[in-house]
Amino acid sequence: MISSEEIRKKYLDFFKSKGHTVMPSASLIPENDPTVLFTTAGMHPLVPYLLGEKHPGGNRLTNIQKCIRTGDIDEVGDNVHLTFFEMMGNWSLGDYFKQEAIEYSFEFLTSKEWLGLDKNLLAVSVFQGDNDAPFDSEAFEKWKSLGISEKRIAKLPKKNNWWGPAGETGPCGPDTEMFYWTGDPNKVLDEFDDTDPLWVEIWNDVFMEYNKTKEGTYIPLAQKNVDTGMGLERTVAVLNDNCDMYQIDTFKPIIEKIEELSGKKYGENTEDTRAMRIIADHLRAATFILGDERGIIPSNVGQGYVLRRLIRRAVRYGKMIGIKEDHFTSLVARVVIKLFRGVYKELERNEDSIVEELVKEESKFARTLQNGLDEFRKIFNKNGRITGKDAFYLYQSYGFPKEMIKEDIKELNKSITNLVNNEVNKDQKISIEFPEEEFDEEFKKHQELSRTASAGVFKGGLADNSEAVVKYHTATHLMLQAMREILGDHVEQRGSNLTAERLRFDFSHPVKVTPEEIQKIEARVNEIIQKDLPVHFEILSIDEAKKRGATGIFDEKYEALGNNIKVYFVGDYSAEICGGPHVEHTGVLGTFKIQKEEAVSQGVRRIKATLQ
Ligand code: ALA
Repeated sequence: MISSEEIRKKYLDFFKSKGHTVMPSASLIPENDPTVLFTTAGMHPLVPYLLGEKHPGGNRLTNIQKCIRTGDIDEVGDNVHLTFFEMMGNWSLGDYFKQEAIEYSFEFLTSKEWLGLDKNLLAVSVFQGDNDAPFDSEAFEKWKSLGISEKRIAKLPKKNNWWGPAGETGPCGPDTEMFYWTGDPNKVLDEFDDTDPLWVEIWNDVFMEYNKTKEGTYIPLAQKNVDTGMGLERTVAVLNDNCDMYQIDTFKPIIEKIEELSGKKYGENTEDTRAMRIIADHLRAATFILGDERGIIPSNVGQGYVLRRLIRRAVRYGKMIGIKEDHFTSLVARVVIKLFRGVYKELERNEDSIVEELVKEESKFARTLQNGLDEFRKIFNKNGRITGKDAFYLYQSYGFPKEMIKEDIKELNKSITNLVNNEVNKDQKISIEFPEEEFDEEFKKHQELSRTASAGVFKGGLADNSEAVVKYHTATHLMLQAMREILGDHVEQRGSNLTAERLRFDFSHPVKVTPEEIQKIEARVNEIIQKDLPVHFEILSIDEAKKRGATGIFDEKYEALGNNIKVYFVGDYSAEICGGPHVEHTGVLGTFKIQKEEAVSQGVRRIKATLQ
């Protein structure tokens, strides 16, 4: 079997040979980007550079990015959708464009030295043109010149051949996608049919030449970029005679563990197979989220909520296929960690906390179900029925986030039916109808009343670098420096999230920050703002950065950048490793005020602050 490791290495080696700097994967949790919960593509962490900032690694980059896509959670279980996946990508930041990008893709796919795929089993699609942008004749002609026949080049609309912006605004452009025939090679037709599932999409080259504005217009970018993405899991499956994605090397041991725990056989029956895939997919994703550099724990908001949902869904499907073991999610996670720890060192570093959090969440879920069940029993015994309203408010008071309620209620209903059959009605088996319509009504009413702030975020999207967000970014640097002065050097960034209305900053500190300390921090930040210090950045080696007192976590990420790291200086007050952007001088920030200080987890505190 062709291994994932072999393909990762080939991809990076190929692009290294074409002058690209190899970068490590960025965190799964986007930094300074309020509009997305997770990194969904390799381009996310590169947005400032796609818009023209100088990247310390140069203008040819490549990496393998950890990605999470939550939009398709209900489709997970088929053979195409994954929540967590690895995306291989290469970028040109205003360097090469369509000609070389397509040449590189073609060479990597077909050359015997690299993937060695049969050119006669390849097809591509290009953008057909519309009011916003013309037909991509350059890509079309380029493919033809490489020997792809016209019949194998589909011209498709924006819906198919346009990528980005990931949110409302930002860099985007036409793309060209590559497909490989996975059916019988003797049965391939001359004509490419992009709706035939035997043609599997394996790579996407995006030509980011536009910036979509808030008004919905497409403005040509001064710097034309290339952004490509090739899903590792799917590529490995295709190269192994298009095997089931869950049978490739980074999945098989996970599936085997689930077989062992459940006593069921993968592939034997459709329902069990789907459940096993969901468990494997969700726990792989949960393990990576928990093990991320900017670790997240289960909660009822934001990323923590997605994480909770993934874990609880896995638990539910685990029960469905007969897994009895307590805390089985942590047993599966150990397998995931073992599979990936060579590539993603953070999983090994965080193994203990990953396991601990899974055990905790599984117990919490079991308790919640039990408490809810007890309440149901009481209400049923008293009233002889359960209304939709009862169900809805009960579930809510037992801490089930709304979207989860519907999934859980089915399972509880089964338990109630059993309970009633065992205790209330011994002779005659009955089946209790769950008042679904009533419940739906209640659910809808409630949903309309309280659309959560995070709802929009689920769609994914990128921040526009609006002025206000940039100001909060600079204010965050000042605050971190002030905290290090006032609270001590142990204060390090654990997370940051900016909107146009506030900054939110997580940092290491063992105890509550006192009101006096808060006042001191505010005063110090305001003092620096009033000094109107200039802000600038320099590209430095790790040693120089350390020597000049830059804060930041000096891990393998920076080592891989070949000693080119970007450090932002605020006068001589603060120096911090950072991609930017920032204001030019501090005077524009206004008045800084801390609005809230609270605990996030053991040893981590959170501050929310505003500028007025
Ligand atoms: N950003 C592009 C994608 O995700 C390459 O398909």
